Amino acid sequence: VDKYAVLGNPVAHSKSPRIHTMFASQTEQRLQYNARLVPVDGFDEAINHFFKEEFGGHGLSITVPFKEQAWECAQHRTARAEKAGAVNTLWITNDGVIHGDNTDGLGLVRDLSVNHQVELENKRILILGAGGAVRGVLEPLLEQKPSELVVANRTVSKAEALVELFPEKPVSACGFTDLSGNFDLIINGTSASLQGDLPPLPVEIVAEHTICYDMMYASETTVFNQWGLAHGARQALDGLGMLVEQAAEQFLIWRGVRPDTAPVLLHLREDMS
Ligand code: ATR
Repeated sequence: VDKYAVLGNPVAHSKSPRIHTMFASQTEQRLQYNARLVPVDGFDEAINHFFKEEFGGHGLSITVPFKEQAWECAQHRTARAEKAGAVNTLWITNDGVIHGDNTDGLGLVRDLSVNHQVELENKRILILGAGGAVRGVLEPLLEQKPSELVVANRTVSKAEALVELFPEKPVSACGFTDLSGNFDLIINGTSASLQGDLPPLPVEIVAEHTICYDMMYASETTVFNQWGLAHGARQALDGLGMLVEQAAEQFLIWRGVRPDTAPVLLHLREDMS
């Protein structure tokens, strides 16, 4: 049977095995998918073992903190993975070549536009943070032709470095306190909420038409989404849909069929409540 796994550290909390197992039964694909804890200094060895030594190793999901290392391991990368500087999907072809892609940005865009009917074209979008999570989604967001995309970060130089990757696009960098005017969509891509923290944001960035999107998710409304709603945002969405959509894109790459994400998302929500 074809084998798949998610590699991470930590990885015990990962919802990927549940998601991909549901996709497999829905599409009647025979496969095994499990979570594997990899020591921080053992990533290359784990990849090699999975694809070259273990019988039946077909594809891997890669999570924190290995996405940059996975980018280096991939012998062939898609254009979007190249630009993202990180890989969350690996697979091996019959010729023994290990391929890498990044489905995070597409997952975010699909969750926004397909699941929530949020328009992105000609909209003023703000993204908070400038780490790997944000870098991975910039190009797919820019492809949706927002009128403006602002990247705000605690360390401004990191936001500036990301913006320089897109010299032709309407994208700019600043610090949190430099922000002015309101936005149609504010995406939180900082890891601040993991510590229950909130970046120091001016309240004027939220208006009654603003949609807040937190790339994180939890059983309770995230701190960032609570802040948005308290300041009058129209809607606050969390990143569970992005997680399921990026996984569906992986499944399509690996198996050639696109699963239906709606029932899977519903099950995960039920599990969390
Ligand atoms: P990830 O892979 O999740 O993006 P990362 O590369 O470590 O992780 O990036 C974390 C992001 O969250 C960064 O933008 C970081 O800001 P700095 O670049 O200034 O470090 C941001 N971040 C983390 N904790 C934060 C906090 N308490 N307040 C504001 N921003 C925070």
